[in-house]
Amino acid sequence: MAEFHASDLAVEDQYKLMSGAIIPRPIALTVTLGPDGPNCAPFSFFNCIGVSPPMFMIACSPKTGPKSGGSTGALKDTVANLKHHPEMVVHIVDYELRNRMNACALDFDSDVDETQIAGFNTAPSVHVKPPRITDCRVQLESRLIEIKEMGTLPYYLILGEVVHFHMDDDVVNDRLHVDPGTLDALGRMAGNGGYTRITDKFTMPFLHPPGSAPSEETVEKAREIAATDRTGGRT
Ligand SMILES: Cc1cc2nc3c(=O)[nH]c(=O)nc-3n(C[C@H](O)[C@H](O)[C@H](O)COP(=O)(O)O)c2cc1C
Repeated sequence: MAEFHASDLAVEDQYKLMSGAIIPRPIALTVTLGPDGPNCAPFSFFNCIGVSPPMFMIACSPKTGPKSGGSTGALKDTVANLKHHPEMVVHIVDYELRNRMNACALDFDSDVDETQIAGFNTAPSVHVKPPRITDCRVQLESRLIEIKEMGTLPYYLILGEVVHFHMDDDVVNDRLHVDPGTLDALGRMAGNGGYTRITDKFTMPFLHPPGSAPSEETVEKAREIAATDRTGGRT
């Protein structure tokens, strides 16, 4: 095994290992509203946290971040806007919108609305002030819970709560199951230009419902099946 002690690594190298190993990452195409108007940017340090209410996290570096050696202290527009107006619309990006998403990652001044540069269609949101991108198959109208500063750069951990779901009819059925094939969500990998699509799926049901103890028989079955995996024969 190659071994790396995290505190011995340069910030750029920490970034390479984190973004290369923790893959694929979903992408939050995030519209916020600032004093100069709407802003849109993609973030792949993004995931759901839980429900009741539906909650998610996005982590945003400073304007000059881990790929440029450190921070000057300036905020990205997304964080500055959320401090100004604590609402956002998070969109899931599909393969057919990849170039538009990428255009929104350009570092524009705060008075530039990236949705217009990218040619996205927008509409007023129902419960929040930032507009939503109607081209996206999933649009999550959201409120900011809080922004936590993490680490020394620092990173800005944005915690949000979804207040309204806009889901394309083709993406969700009447039992609220989302079809991953139709959603065709982009996944972010490492490096300059690394992405993936969900083209290979398999099922692996829970051996026992979470939240209660499995029977001895189930544990034995779990052991047997686990031993068929790679390295399963080794001690
Ligand atoms: C696919 C993708 C994922 C990205 N993920 C992040 C991220 O998780 N955190 C971050 O700070 N920047 C991320 N970026 C870079 C931001 O999108 C970029 O800095 C953008 O200009 C920020 O815009 P803003 O200043 O308008 O908020 C990502 C860019 C791309 C293309």
